[in-house]
Amino acid sequence: MHISTLQAKHPIGVFDSGIGGLTVAQGIAHALPNEQIVYFGDTAHMPYGEKSAEAIQGYSVKICQFLLQHQCKIIVIACNTASSVAVELLQEQMAGRVTVINVIDPVVEAVKQSGIGRVGVLATQRTTKTGVYPHKISLASPGVKVMAKAAASLASIIEEGMFHSAHTMKAIMDYYLSDPCLEQIEGLILGCTHYPIIKNHINNYYNGKVQIFDATETVAQAVKEQLRNQQLLCPDTRKAQHHFYVSDYTHSFEQATKIFFGTQVHLNHYPIWEMIEQITPLK
Ligand code: DGL
Repeated sequence: MHISTLQAKHPIGVFDSGIGGLTVAQGIAHALPNEQIVYFGDTAHMPYGEKSAEAIQGYSVKICQFLLQHQCKIIVIACNTASSVAVELLQEQMAGRVTVINVIDPVVEAVKQSGIGRVGVLATQRTTKTGVYPHKISLASPGVKVMAKAAASLASIIEEGMFHSAHTMKAIMDYYLSDPCLEQIEGLILGCTHYPIIKNHINNYYNGKVQIFDATETVAQAVKEQLRNQQLLCPDTRKAQHHFYVSDYTHSFEQATKIFFGTQVHLNHYPIWEMIEQITPLK
């Protein structure tokens, strides 16, 4: 078999600080049902939103090595926080081996295409602090006004399943979205992989009048385009079986996968941080 045909059958690697990135994996599985996904959730270190940039870079490099060992033909950073601090480093380190896609650039491009003039960003503290969205949007679409709002606890609220109560969610949406900095926005970027779960509540808050930029669909299209360009789309017609790994396993993580992936999936415990490194002897 030709080498590129073999490679085309290799999986798509996806990683996140935890299980929130499963929203991105689900978007890819939906857009590319024949592609196999190998997912790694660094549950031992989540939330990345509270870690230093250096720590997140170190974790991301090691996780990419794990995905390379699984012969992934493309790697998707399904985490805004890791995308904001590690994408350049990963692209540099993986150059010539595998393409690395992140969740921010495709959304920045979508904002540009939309032609809107005022956009809000809802994200974790760390992502907001990096200023990555305002910076990248100012380069891609000069003149577009970007207002970033940090929603410190929103990811945890979603993980706890509070979004099932319309009443509670109305109060939570009022709390975060009524911030004066978000007044008169025409679009809102969901700057954290957990937020697509509450997209309906956000839409309700704005009565459908604000365009929501959701990375799950945009990133899946970017992955499809990249694989097509590299002639790496899987030729199989069968629905693929995915593999999900986490650095720390709990039953509640496994139960929560249903929220983010639509169906509950089996999580394999892979304690990547407890594995003793092969120490290269000093010469
Ligand atoms: N998945 C992360 C993101 O998209 C949110 C959770 C975290 O802080 O680890 O930014």
